[in-house]
Amino acid sequence: MRALVTGGAGYIGSHAVRALAARGHEPVVFDNLSRGHREAVIDAPIIVGDLLSPGDTAQAIASSRAEAVLHFAGLTYVGESVGHPDVYYRNNVAGTMNLLDAMREHRVGTIIFSSTAAVYGDPVRLPIDEDHPLAPVSPYGRSKLMVEWMLRDRAASLGLRYVALRYFNAAGSSLDGRIGEDHEPETHLIPRVLLAAAGELPELTILGTDWDTPDGTCIRDYIHVEDLAEAHVLALDHLAGGGRSASWNLGTGKGCSVREVIACAEKVTGRKVPLVEGGRRAGDPAVLVAAADRIQRELGWRPRHLDLEAIVASAWRWVERGGRYARLAAARGAGR
Ligand code: UFG
Repeated sequence: MRALVTGGAGYIGSHAVRALAARGHEPVVFDNLSRGHREAVIDAPIIVGDLLSPGDTAQAIASSRAEAVLHFAGLTYVGESVGHPDVYYRNNVAGTMNLLDAMREHRVGTIIFSSTAAVYGDPVRLPIDEDHPLAPVSPYGRSKLMVEWMLRDRAASLGLRYVALRYFNAAGSSLDGRIGEDHEPETHLIPRVLLAAAGELPELTILGTDWDTPDGTCIRDYIHVEDLAEAHVLALDHLAGGGRSASWNLGTGKGCSVREVIACAEKVTGRKVPLVEGGRRAGDPAVLVAAADRIQRELGWRPRHLDLEAIVASAWRWVERGGRYARLAAARGAGR
């Protein structure tokens, strides 16, 4: 199937592009490269343009002759969204409206949307299943939930068919080490722990040691980025085969604490991670763990990397290679 992949130069999108191509689909990336990396796009052509431009967006849908859309493009920092809600609602909500309008104009009726565990807000029960109350606590989470509502309403009256995938903590890099996580700034735990192990950060600050958890640090459900990518292929095949619209969680169902991640990183790298114990980060819930059996039941999706060590090891291979697209490109340019 020909699929337009918005945000296909970003961390999760770039892995999904490769998974789609490997399964015989024909992905075409649409990305403004504001946060993505051209070098991350392997196995697909790229159209550089902006979802905030209705013209760019309609042109991308038309020229790619897309039969479906996978919509990864969006801003994803919870903290940034608190300071710049206007930017988040414009990019994540208004940008998606442009996309949905262009899809309608060109009679593309199928979309897979990157949603997030942040739509649930602070958990009232664990693990979090899809029926958990939707009460996001940040503009980021609210912007993603607004899009889910738009999808649901357009499905009810305009015939759109969609799957929204609510990611828990995406982690790791492609097993062949060719693509990985390259955010600026990097705020996520696993890359920061590994950058500290590699000596590229002076230390790793543990954001709170007094949480109501067994070791006092926050617990998250880390899911390998290739498992996330695979779920998108299955979701696309599901809709192409006439399957129903849905919102599903993507996690492993297993929680790991910050201290467990650090211990795992020390084992994988064979290095000591320099640590500082800091205060809590505003907006962090103590525990986020998915109940992700629904997509397993309905699509037969199975996460293959259930072991934190395998996830961290794949992320470490990427950091050892250089961990930044610009750096890899410079090394290639210098003939190394
Ligand atoms: N953490 C540290 N030190 C750091 C960075 C993170 O201790 O330097 C801790 C955080 O406090 C948190 C855990 O590590 O407890 C994981 O933090 P991440 O920043 O890696 O991930 P989050 O759980 O904050 O964010 C994820 C997704 C978001 C989503 C959010 C929902 O990346 O897209 O979950 O709350 F919105």
